[in-house]
Amino acid sequence: MARQGAAPDSFSFDAESEARIAVIFAKYPAGQPASAMLPLLDLAQRQMGRVTGSAWVPIVAMDEIARRVGVAPIRVYEVATFYLMFNTSPVGKYHLQVCTTTPCWLRGSEEVVHACRRATGIKDWKETSADGMFTMTEVECLGACVNAPVLQVNDDFYEDMDAESTERLLAALKRGETPPPGSVKGRQTSAPEGGPATLTSLSFEPAE
Ligand code: FES
Repeated sequence: MARQGAAPDSFSFDAESEARIAVIFAKYPAGQPASAMLPLLDLAQRQMGRVTGSAWVPIVAMDEIARRVGVAPIRVYEVATFYLMFNTSPVGKYHLQVCTTTPCWLRGSEEVVHACRRATGIKDWKETSADGMFTMTEVECLGACVNAPVLQVNDDFYEDMDAESTERLLAALKRGETPPPGSVKGRQTSAPEGGPATLTSLSFEPAE
C-alpha cells in the first residue's frame, strides 16, 4: 500500500478490516450486498488512515468495494463523491473540519479559521500543511450548534472554540497529544457554564 499522499496502485482489505466486513455484511438482507457500500467506504478510509497516516479513499479502493458489493465502479464513485465525510484525495494526519455555518459564524468561527491558518501555514480550503500533519476543510453545520463554534478533528468534536483554544489544541496535536474532545470551556455536554441549572436531581419528588 502507498505512503501518505501517493495514490496506491492496488488496494485490498487487510485482516483487521476483513473481520469487520463479515460483521457488516451480516447486518443486511441476503442478496443485497450493495447495502454495505457506505460502511465499506468508511472502512477503507479508516484502513488507509491506520496504514498510511492519510484517511482517504483512493479509486482502487472504490473499485475493490464495487467488486465486493457487486455493482459497477461508477456506482461507488457516485456515492463517495457525494458525501463530504469521504475524502477522495489524500489528507493530513489531522483533518481539521471547520464549521462556518451561521450559528458557528455568529459565535466566532472566523477566529477559529484564522487561528488554524496561523498555526498550520495553510492558506486555502482543502490544502494540506507542508509537514503533512493538517488538512483544512470548510464544512456545513456539524449538528452541534448549541456549543458553537465547532472544530472537528478526525472523529472528534472540539466545541466552544475561540482563537486561543484553537491554537492550544493544534499545538497539543503537534506534540502528539490528543486533548479530550467536547466543550473546551468544560461545559457538561450543552449545559450552561458552571453546571446544569435544571433537572439537577434524578430522584422523583412528588408535589405536596
Ligand atoms: S452551525 Fe456549526 S455546528 Fe451547527
